[in-house]
Amino acid sequence: MAVTQEIPTTSPIGRSTPRVDGAVKVSGKAQYTSDFHFPGTLYAVPVEATIANGRIVKLDTSAAGKMPGVHAIFHRENIGKMFRSTLGQGMEGICEERRLPFEDDVVRYYGQYIALAVADTFEAAKAAADAVRVTYSKEKPNVETHLEADNDPDSVVTTFGMRERVDSQRGDADAAFASAPVKLDQTYVTPAETHNPIELHATTAIWEGSKLTLYDSSQGVVNFRSVLAQMFDLPKENVRVITKFVGSGFGGKLFPWTHCALAAAAARQLGKPVKLVLSRKMMFQTVGHRPLTQQRVRLGATRDGKLVSLQHDYIYHRSMLDAHHEDCGEATPFQYSVPNLRVTFGRARRNVGAAADMRGPGAVPGLYATESAMNELAGQLKIDPVKFRIMNEPKIDEGLRLPFSSRHLLECFELGAEKFGWSRRTPEVGSMKRDGLILGWGMAGCAWIAARFAAAANVELRDDGTARVACATQDIGTGTYTNLAQLASHKTGVPLEKIEVALGDTSLPEGPLSGGSMATPSIVPAVFQAADNAIASLLTIATTTPGSPFEKRKPDDLAFEGGRVFIKADGPAGGVPFADLLQRANLRLLTGSGKSESTFGNPKPKYSTHSFGAHFVEVTWQPEIARLRVSRVVTVIDAGRILNPLAGRNQIEGAVVMGIGMALLEHTSYDPQNGAPINSNLADYVVAVNADAPPIDVHFLDFPDKEINEVGARGIGEIGLAGIAAAITDAVHHATGVRVRELPVKIENLLA
Ligand code: MOS
Repeated sequence: MAVTQEIPTTSPIGRSTPRVDGAVKVSGKAQYTSDFHFPGTLYAVPVEATIANGRIVKLDTSAAGKMPGVHAIFHRENIGKMFRSTLGQGMEGICEERRLPFEDDVVRYYGQYIALAVADTFEAAKAAADAVRVTYSKEKPNVETHLEADNDPDSVVTTFGMRERVDSQRGDADAAFASAPVKLDQTYVTPAETHNPIELHATTAIWEGSKLTLYDSSQGVVNFRSVLAQMFDLPKENVRVITKFVGSGFGGKLFPWTHCALAAAAARQLGKPVKLVLSRKMMFQTVGHRPLTQQRVRLGATRDGKLVSLQHDYIYHRSMLDAHHEDCGEATPFQYSVPNLRVTFGRARRNVGAAADMRGPGAVPGLYATESAMNELAGQLKIDPVKFRIMNEPKIDEGLRLPFSSRHLLECFELGAEKFGWSRRTPEVGSMKRDGLILGWGMAGCAWIAARFAAAANVELRDDGTARVACATQDIGTGTYTNLAQLASHKTGVPLEKIEVALGDTSLPEGPLSGGSMATPSIVPAVFQAADNAIASLLTIATTTPGSPFEKRKPDDLAFEGGRVFIKADGPAGGVPFADLLQRANLRLLTGSGKSESTFGNPKPKYSTHSFGAHFVEVTWQPEIARLRVSRVVTVIDAGRILNPLAGRNQIEGAVVMGIGMALLEHTSYDPQNGAPINSNLADYVVAVNADAPPIDVHFLDFPDKEINEVGARGIGEIGLAGIAAAITDAVHHATGVRVRELPVKIENLLA
């Protein structure tokens, strides 16, 4: 594919680079979605169903409609026509909850929107929403946490297209398991988890004739435009979606939700801008969650530790109508060498809102199960868990029967073990102590998909020596503004502070979702090609402008480096800054466009492309007061070349902290009586915070993956959360002797 290209030492690529948007963020100048204000804006507050299963028999809006400042109470009869959306080509038209808001009178989950109050102020709208009287016919909701797979066909429709329920298969997993000398058969459970970005979901919708503009907190403006255009029967070019800053999303903001459509529908009816900001409680009900998973893992091995059989059968819950696919088996077929394997999934309908991608969807719960099973089997075999993994390292991706583009998992294990001091581990439970505390040491491996979405970008060189790079992708807090500036600077030689970055607007060249850890790898080729095209124009201008020092030369005689044009044969010393050449030609700017193709979901890949990593975890345990703490983490990540190690480390640290939450704290509980997520606030839904975060020692290996792009950069947003919960529960076992197979680990599990 791409030619190897040397990175000059002046390039910002690979250099720890503070966020180019840092100053506007810390000074409060960055405008998040709900910060945009427009004259005449009205405020919308949805009415939430207080049952999870049943029908609306009567909706009495008479009192609410007469309250001061109220413009309308919308419901099924008066919201106006909307259409459903459907999947298009590539990553287009994706939406987790296809049912339109108010489409029928059926309530299928607690908190479902059943009406919408719109008023002059937020307070008036909230009061009116509270004053809507609803009569229901109720049935008992099903939020049962024990899962039995529904009777689905072998091939099912999901949010992302058709899926075979047998994910992957080779050899004869049953027979090999039956005859394996050492076996493990365990079921691992991960709870429903709720995305809790600090920035609430928000939409402001503005109509001008048949043109719709939406300010939204979105991880994917291009897909958002496609979904909303379909819903409101508009050509795509009539819809504009703007997302300048996102206060994180964790996957919950990947695709549009029903409140986005409600804001647009209300604004259409009232002829004024309508702003709708969710409450924290609504964040638990209507904008997705990581589904509950129940995963049976069967492993068979020889006595000397060679895996002979692996079966991974997982079930997840889904809402009554939607088909989010939680791909828990994503990493299972390739992570270890095993001749006999089968991975299958089943689904169970529940009265809950639509499930959605949450940081490391699929592989994060999946690797918790399979890595836990690997640790348990290593224990049974009395083989060190690191050694056990090394013994089962595959030579190729045995699922796809393809070579890996770049896999350095063994180096992750080696470096991690060395930095952690793993060789000092004594395997007996409770055998390690420090300062009167019992220590537990655990580890796990991890993997995450590496691929590109389609992307386009535009690079401008300007006559004042500045540059602009534009791409309709988003910065969800991960550092995409900075990455775009780094890539443009690398190519144009323009220093970072002189590069304007434009993103988060569908009027820009179509960019990738900020999802799947794919934004960074996707934008690299597009920005590079755009810059190359701008530079090619520059060389033409240099040779054709009367009076140019390069007049009458051929573009081929010239080169461009560090922002200067020079004659190849003479070397860069006598170069002329591009700004001089533009000024001489009386040009304000030169522009170049670039594009890269998607590799995601490629039906005929040549390589298996993934990132890898290893976590080593220490916990401390004080049985006297039942206090468990994660006290130290070493994480080594093999994600190709890291564009910005500062932001990169920040991603892994954040993911590890989130992993402590996954292992020890986070779970969404649904009330069996009314189906409500009952811990629907940040006091009761406990996430890991600073006080829970131990010293985290992050290391990146540096093996550029040229299959992904010419820089060799894979994504790093999600991989840090994969595997960490298995490492923590293994450390908990080492300290306490208790194997917890249902997350999160609760103190009462350890008191037995
Ligand atoms: Mo990530 S769950 O793809 O935002």
